[in-house]
Amino acid sequence: MQTMERKILITGGAGFIGSHLVRLMVNRYPNYLIVNLDALTYAGNPANLRDIEEAANYRFERVDICDVEAVREVFERHAIDSVIHLAAESHVDRSIDDPFAFARTNVLGTLTLLQVAKERWTDDAQHLFYHVSTDEVYGSLGAEGAFTESSRYEPHSPYSASKASSDHFVRAFHDTFGLPTVISNCSNNYGPYQFPEKLIPLFINNIRERRALPVYGRGENVRDWLYVEDHARAIDLIFHRGRVGETYNIGGSNEWRNIDLVRLLVATTDRLLGRAEGEDDNLITFVRDRAGHDLRYAIDSTKLREELGWHPEVSFEEGIERTVRWYLHNDEWLTAVTSGEYRNYYSRMYDGR
Ligand code: NAD
Ligand code: TYD
Repeated sequence: MQTMERKILITGGAGFIGSHLVRLMVNRYPNYLIVNLDALTYAGNPANLRDIEEAANYRFERVDICDVEAVREVFERHAIDSVIHLAAESHVDRSIDDPFAFARTNVLGTLTLLQVAKERWTDDAQHLFYHVSTDEVYGSLGAEGAFTESSRYEPHSPYSASKASSDHFVRAFHDTFGLPTVISNCSNNYGPYQFPEKLIPLFINNIRERRALPVYGRGENVRDWLYVEDHARAIDLIFHRGRVGETYNIGGSNEWRNIDLVRLLVATTDRLLGRAEGEDDNLITFVRDRAGHDLRYAIDSTKLREELGWHPEVSFEEGIERTVRWYLHNDEWLTAVTSGEYRNYYSRMYDGR
């Protein structure tokens, strides 16, 4: 094989955002070796990368980020020079049921990767540990304002507490050991390949199957939505041009109240299915609120826009249209994921290699 310019470990590459990032990096940089390290939990699905899995510059390693020996071995075998770390437990409702799983993967797993990178990167070569985080670490906003990079950390859910803790460990390794790190904190993502436990794919699937749409509380909570490919492009840009030791906020400047978003999803899905307007409005069901439910998130991404020239390329109108179409046209993927069938795909593809 030709000499690779960079050897990048992307963790969590079989998940939602990770699979978009892996696809972008594998296609855009044939001179980079992209090693996707993923434990394939319920949220990881190798079918998300079917189109690039045979690429010459792509490798897959089924490894748990908490397994220090296995992580070390992957670093050594591929001579990894950089990490883009996305592997995490990512769903707030699950973190309420099982906070320990979040402390294990998000805190101890991140610490394991940091420790191995610190051990290995003792030469003068170019290195970067890029940690992908969330706006949820900043807590909840009132009606006004937006989170900047200097907003105070005030996590409320076990998920956001575990991500906040991992961010602190990344900064501590930079400040204490001089590890070259960068962090980005992004707002809510949407798009193809998102596991249908999150609001948008769950509701598209429920509308399709005419099941109730459980809106927490009164649907007054506000989220700032960004198309997943715009997030992947921002990560690529920050990886190459971001300043070491810095933090960058990534957001769509696209705030929606949940109830308004749900109405848009019903209208779009019904239209694309050829159903009459308003036919499925009665699926909207207000249910008991999520415990500790953050009222509003909004991101100020001025730093990223002004310093690196990033801006979202996909409007919300276009992104929602593409997303609903994708889930409706990929009902095989949706059915396989909801039934757990994709695990058989893994056995066929990777076991016994
Ligand atoms: P996801 O749940 O879809 O994917 C997570 C991936 O990590 C899966 O492939 C899973 O198999 C893998 N994984 C989980 N535990 C692991 C472990 N112990 N070892 C190795 N692999 C493991 O998550 P996502 O929505 O793609 O989010 C990716 C990252 O981006 C996370 O760090 C998340 O905090 C962050 N983020 C997500 C959003 C969002 O809206 N989804 C927004 C901002 C930041
Ligand atoms: P989610 O997709 O879980 O992302 P996050 O909690 O990380 O923002 O939820 C988005 C919003 O939708 C959030 O305010 C919770 C709400 N929500 C519901 O009202 N019903 C649901 O079934 C889900 C999954 C989420």
